[in-house]
Amino acid sequence: MIKLGVNVDHVATVRQARGSRYPDPVVLAVLAEQGGADGITVHLREDRRHIQERDVRVLLETVTTKVNLEMAVTPAMVDFAIAQRPADCCLVPEKRAELTTEGGLDAVGLRERLAEVVPRLTAAGIQVSLFIDPELPQIEVAAAVGAPVVELHTGRYASADHPAARTDELLKITRAADHARSLGVTVNAGHGLHYRNVAPIAAIAGMQELNIGHAIVARALEVGMVQAVAEMVQRMRAARSGTAG
Ligand code: PXP
Repeated sequence: MIKLGVNVDHVATVRQARGSRYPDPVVLAVLAEQGGADGITVHLREDRRHIQERDVRVLLETVTTKVNLEMAVTPAMVDFAIAQRPADCCLVPEKRAELTTEGGLDAVGLRERLAEVVPRLTAAGIQVSLFIDPELPQIEVAAAVGAPVVELHTGRYASADHPAARTDELLKITRAADHARSLGVTVNAGHGLHYRNVAPIAAIAGMQELNIGHAIVARALEVGMVQAVAEMVQRMRAARSGTAG
C-alpha cells in the first residue's frame, strides 16, 4: 500500500511568523497520524526559518509512526542526525534565499561527499534517501553510494503549465522510478503535490511513499488536520487501486 509522509514545516512557519509558541508542529503531527499519515517529515533548515531543533527532539519522543528528517549535507546536520537517530533522513540541497527546495540534490557532483555521509548515517541505523531530480545519472550515483531510497522531485511535474509538459514530466518520473527499482533502490516522491495532481504520481508502479506538506497544511486550515490527511490518503489509495477519476 502506498504511504504518506506529512510534512509539518509550515505549521512551524505560522508559529515563527509571530515568535509565539503556537501552533505546535508536534500537535499537528499527532493529528496527522490520526488522519492516517504513515510518517511525519520535517526539514531542519540551516536558517531555522520554521522547524527548530527542539521540534525535532520532541517529535522523536512523540510520533508513533516515524520521523523523516530532511536536511542539507553539512557536517553539523550529519552530526545532529546521528545524535538524534530519526528513522529516515532525506538529504536535500539547500539555498538560503530560496522559498522552498528548488531542485534535486546533485548526487553526481556530490558523489564523494555522499559516499562518506550515506554509510555514516546508515551505520547509525538511519534509512537514507536522496532527494534527486528524476534523471538516470542521479539515480545511478544514488545506488552507487549505497542510498537505499531516492525521493524523486516532482516539482517540475507539479508546476508544468500545459498538459503535454505535465505528461512529459510524468513520463520522466515513471522511467526514473523503474530504473531505480531495477537497481534495488526504493522510490519515494514529493514536492508540489496537491489534491488534484497527486493521483498520477500515486499510481506509478512501486511508488512507496509520497511526502506532502504545503497542500495538506493549507487544507488543514479549512477542514482540520485529521480530515485533510484522510482526504489525501483516500486519493492516493484510490489512484493506486485504479479507481481514481
Ligand atoms: N520532499 C522534500 C524533499 C521537500 O524538500 C519538500 C518541501 O519541504 C517536500 C517533499 C514537500 O513539498 P510540498 O510542501 O510542496 O508538499
